[in-house]
Amino acid sequence: MRNSKLNSITMAIAIAVAGSAATCACSSVNAGNETVSPDGKLRLTLGVDSGRVFYTVDRCGTTVIDTSYLAMEMRQFSIGHNAKLTATHHDTFDETWQTVWGEESSIRNHYNEMVADFVENDSSKVKYSIAFRVFDDGIGFRYIIPQQDGVDSIVVMDEISQFNLPKESTAWSIPWNHEFYEHLWKPSRVNCLDTVSSPLTVMVNDSLYLAVHEAALTDYAKMNLHPAEKGSSRLQSWLTPWSTGEKVRAGRELITPWRTIIIASSPSDMMLSRLMLNLNEPCQWEDDTDWIEPGRYIGIWWGMHMKDYTWEQGPKHGATTENTMRYIDFAAENGFQGMLVEGWNKGWDGDWSANGYQFSFTEPYPDYDLEALAAYARKKGVRLIAHHETGGWATNYENQMDSAFALCERLGINAAKTGYVNPLIDGRELHDSQYGVRHYRKVLESAARYHVMIDNHEPVMPTGLQRTLPNLMTQEGVRGQEYDAWSKDGGNPPEHTVTLPFTRGLAGPMDFTPGTFNYENRACPGTRPNTTIAKQLAMGVVLYSPLQMASDMIENYTGRPEFEFIKRCPTTWEKTVVPEARIGEYITVARKERGGNSWYVGAMTGRDSRQTNLRLDFLTPGVEYTARIFADGKGADWQSNPYPVEISETDVNSTSIISLNLARSGGAAIIITPKEL
Ligand code: NOJ
Ligand code: CA
Repeated sequence: MRNSKLNSITMAIAIAVAGSAATCACSSVNAGNETVSPDGKLRLTLGVDSGRVFYTVDRCGTTVIDTSYLAMEMRQFSIGHNAKLTATHHDTFDETWQTVWGEESSIRNHYNEMVADFVENDSSKVKYSIAFRVFDDGIGFRYIIPQQDGVDSIVVMDEISQFNLPKESTAWSIPWNHEFYEHLWKPSRVNCLDTVSSPLTVMVNDSLYLAVHEAALTDYAKMNLHPAEKGSSRLQSWLTPWSTGEKVRAGRELITPWRTIIIASSPSDMMLSRLMLNLNEPCQWEDDTDWIEPGRYIGIWWGMHMKDYTWEQGPKHGATTENTMRYIDFAAENGFQGMLVEGWNKGWDGDWSANGYQFSFTEPYPDYDLEALAAYARKKGVRLIAHHETGGWATNYENQMDSAFALCERLGINAAKTGYVNPLIDGRELHDSQYGVRHYRKVLESAARYHVMIDNHEPVMPTGLQRTLPNLMTQEGVRGQEYDAWSKDGGNPPEHTVTLPFTRGLAGPMDFTPGTFNYENRACPGTRPNTTIAKQLAMGVVLYSPLQMASDMIENYTGRPEFEFIKRCPTTWEKTVVPEARIGEYITVARKERGGNSWYVGAMTGRDSRQTNLRLDFLTPGVEYTARIFADGKGADWQSNPYPVEISETDVNSTSIISLNLARSGGAAIIITPKEL
């Protein structure tokens, strides 16, 4: 990734921090056992209590994270129980880096850092450090264990990183289990949680929101959270284990991922935090990223989920040459960059759960002329998107990966959607164990060698790795639109999509696949998107994904004027603002296109209808624009009348207010274009 340091980078020791702390009770000290945010509002304090390492965080003098202990149990030694603090080092860092794609073209990475050195005062005499970074929007910390005399390898049996959250808070969570994070995020009291996956989103009060997660998970186990004691709001990490019970296998040294806490004043600010990306390593590919192309795609996909097509060969096979040509034509006519084809390859006919089951990633079914179709797509300016469903058999995939990605590159296929539908990887290990984490990273690195972008389904929860490996475009790990095809509970409830931006969305792009226009469902009657059509459009702006799929079968877009919005909406942005948001209730997101001056707005509501006045003060002052509004039409209602969409136009500028009437589970999508264009 281009990592031009636009602002100055300052590294200094024991720096008194600049920034305004005028409204704050806390002092702006970045020395000794304390480090503060650049704006002086957040303060992290480190302590050692009878050999136990702990930290606290306050905001303007009010406790945000109370005494939280930090320890690790290795097979070879333990840390954090008999600790002696030997030194602290303080730095400050400030740079602005450019993204290859994303919700912003440039991101400021500005923090103060304290690295605390310890020696464990037991027989091991282990030396280690804990690094803390404090940003204006939260904190991160990680453990650094260098090589120790006489220790050849480190095996982590447990990591006990605590997050002592304010007691009366509400937390939105999903349970930790083997279902690829495909759950509804539910609110509960923070002291009523069982074991949950991060991110964990917490509302303390109307002006304090927290999200606990991690960054830079590259060769470690995923961090989940559970209460330190039953009924407690003091949560602590619980790492997904190997099948042996070990948590992490390392070499002679170990650096953990960052443990992160976003600390924000509103749900909108929480969404705009870029702390997770900042805590990932910069991309080293420098100028070789032009092959990474965000965009929109369609696919031979919804038809399978509706049981109109099959993945496997047979009378209803979806991925036939003829059908694929039809889809390529449609993609070309409507300006889509990508065309996903599922069920193109041999292997869909058997029982995936059988031990060592083998999909082929290079051999097409006989009724799918891969070479001819790839050439046809190229001629039409469309890229085929490969589909690599592994059935969870990662080793089979790894064995074929080079030839599979080489085939993609030769045929001009620049993206692959991967899949791991099996509760275990290779019949043995959990998706978010270190085994899974290593596999997913290997796929990205291998794909990059052949200039292939990845859309990963059934992944480990994202942690911002796309900063380092920007061919990691989007991932599932979300209860997506497919549940609106076949979920026995009737599909995703109205509040789901206005909860995701503040929960799963904080972990990175989601391949949710909005854009279903036909709610008839013969395969699973009663199940359908529980939204109006205008909300389907708005989701394309709100639920961020650099590869964004229009989910429906192409025939369902014919004769639908509102399809225009999907065709025009970009997938990489210059800038994002969130004018209003309330978790589980409503959200409005406005994004400025990259390389242009138009804005795209998505407004959505949950169970309740909503009248709102959207201030357009994010527009450039003095410029006159046209707003093209795709809103819930007369009588629209997600339950009784989801289809009406009204399209209108009005002149606006930065002082305008647009009045929106959102239906129950409704929405509005707006394109705001400067008039001189
Ligand atoms: C589950 C994925 O989420 C879905 O998109 C895909 O169609 C099926 N697996 C088959 O791979
Ligand atoms: Ca899935």
